[in-house]
Amino acid sequence: MNRMFEMYQQYADRYDQLVNHEDYAGNLKRFLNDLIDWQGKTVCEFGCGTGRVTKMYAERAASCLLCDNSAQMLEQAARNLSGITRPLNLRELDNRQLDTLSGNFDIVIEGWSFGHLVAAEPERIEYWTDFLVQHCSRLAGQLVIFIETLGTDTEQPKPPGPSLAEFYRLLEASGFVRSELRTDYRFENSRKASEIMGAFFGNTMADSIIARDIKVIPEYTGVWVLDKGR
Ligand SMILES: C[S@@+](CC[C@H](N)C(=O)[O-])C[C@H]1O[C@@H](n2cnc3c(N)ncnc32)[C@H](O)[C@@H]1O
Repeated sequence: MNRMFEMYQQYADRYDQLVNHEDYAGNLKRFLNDLIDWQGKTVCEFGCGTGRVTKMYAERAASCLLCDNSAQMLEQAARNLSGITRPLNLRELDNRQLDTLSGNFDIVIEGWSFGHLVAAEPERIEYWTDFLVQHCSRLAGQLVIFIETLGTDTEQPKPPGPSLAEFYRLLEASGFVRSELRTDYRFENSRKASEIMGAFFGNTMADSIIARDIKVIPEYTGVWVLDKGR
């Protein structure tokens, strides 16, 4: 199992520690709340993880269905979201099974999850992109929002690898509009940055953070929005 999937399945608390340092400037939360009036909206979120994106909107939503294929991530999400007063329904569901889900939601959103699927099966990018877009559009009345990486520890926004580049190209060909945000991580010091970033992104990044003695790690994030009202 690769390092990232191992973390999702077995070390959700460490993943949570990582994302608690991400986007210290709060750009994604500001973007999502400028874009959408979440008040009274029904929301379905895929790959919700430990609830990092959910926390940005859930208190204003009417209800949220939160899906992920890791029981550990969902347990951590339940703890992190215990203060939310709106109805939350957490469900173990693989992104490959979106076709089994029925319902009507105002907004369907995912964060850094669908990219894993297309990257894992590069020979089927077109198939999976089509599948994900088709089923998210079927479930969403108003907006479909995909949040994916445009690179960590990089000075320019760029898809990390050809699979994600192709995924993003296909999304834009299907009518999704891309916005680019800075979501830099900030840590107390470079040692902490190296330890926490390295556990997820690997030793090369860990060593490079120490060598440069940096505690702010630059990151770009793309938000792809399909507005069904247009
Ligand atoms: C990078 S994390 C993002 C989590 C959360 N959206 C966030 O912003 O922190 C990716 C998440 O997708 C989930 N995931 C990965 N592959 C999946 C799949 N095939 N089906 C459902 N969830 C999946 C993982 O368990 C993990 O929670």
